[in-house]
Amino acid sequence: MNLQTNYLGLTLKNPLVAGASPLSDDLDKLRALEDAGIAGVTMYSLFEEQITQNLVGASDQNDGYSDSFVQAASTFAGSGILDRGVDSYLEQLQAIKNTVSIPVFGSLNGTRDGEWTQYASLIESAGADALELNLYCLATNLDESAAQMEERYLRIMTQVRERISIPLVVKLSPSFSALPNFAKRLHEGGVDALVLFNRMYQPDFDIEKRKVNVSLKLSYAQELRLRLRWLSMLSGRINCQFAASGGVYKAVDVIKALMAGADTVQLVSSVLLNGPERVSSILEELESWMSNHQHTSLDEIRGCMNYQNCADPEALERANYMKILKSWG
Ligand SMILES: Cc1cc2nc3c(=O)[nH]c(=O)nc-3n(C[C@H](O)[C@H](O)[C@H](O)COP(=O)(O)O)c2cc1C
Repeated sequence: MNLQTNYLGLTLKNPLVAGASPLSDDLDKLRALEDAGIAGVTMYSLFEEQITQNLVGASDQNDGYSDSFVQAASTFAGSGILDRGVDSYLEQLQAIKNTVSIPVFGSLNGTRDGEWTQYASLIESAGADALELNLYCLATNLDESAAQMEERYLRIMTQVRERISIPLVVKLSPSFSALPNFAKRLHEGGVDALVLFNRMYQPDFDIEKRKVNVSLKLSYAQELRLRLRWLSMLSGRINCQFAASGGVYKAVDVIKALMAGADTVQLVSSVLLNGPERVSSILEELESWMSNHQHTSLDEIRGCMNYQNCADPEALERANYMKILKSWG
């Protein structure tokens, strides 16, 4: 069965990519993932905060950072990855390149204009096959409009784009007021692929200590639905590639994401919970589904359920809202 996938000018043996996470922090685990069949890996992110610390020294590293940014950074910090510096990130990237033969994508994570974007070229020099830029977006500033925020993100993307010649991927949050327009502008500005979506981690309260608990919960399979909506809405209408990230646990989820128009499908939570064997079992089920349906290539199903191709595009839009409400009970 041919599961070959063209992504960012690379030929992947199948559409499954390990998403940005501590999965890339352990070379033995990565080897096991490669043996299980994973076709590519995105490294955990190098955060703007880490880079700024590197540039100006540790003393005032958090000054001026929005709460959302500090939250994003500290949510991922559990594994200790964030305590390390920029050099360690680049060394790990090189070590991964020397360990596995699948493509390796670097990841930069930031939200503010600044010098940090120059580190994109170091990630390219360290051997990354592409760069994923995670625009972890949470609007908290009362004085910044949606349009101003989008302009800021476009500036950051352009700064990164100008510094690298490898493909550029942007990982987006779902919370943009006009996502299709913003996605189109990102692509027009030189983005080769979009990852839908970054996961927004929600805080909880400890009511006795009156403390905010920031703890990372792995995703639920239902989260895929949000991805399916927007992959369907954007793929085929914007001429870039797409990766699904969020809520992919089984082969059926991969098939849905491909039908919605994803070129690749990222796995994190399902592999953290179930180990690398999850990759091989998904691939086996995907192959058997393909052959049971007499498909010989993923191109035969890719995008077949997107806005342009599905028999009932209204089901993806607001027109379906009343129908959904009526379906209860
Ligand atoms: C422990 C952990 C660490 C993560 N670290 C990063 C990161 O450094 N950069 C990033 O862009 N996404 C990071 N993510 C988000 C994942 O890449 C992914 O988008 C999210 O978990 C949804 O996919 P899933 O449902 O397959 O887990 C992390 C997720 C987890 C669970």
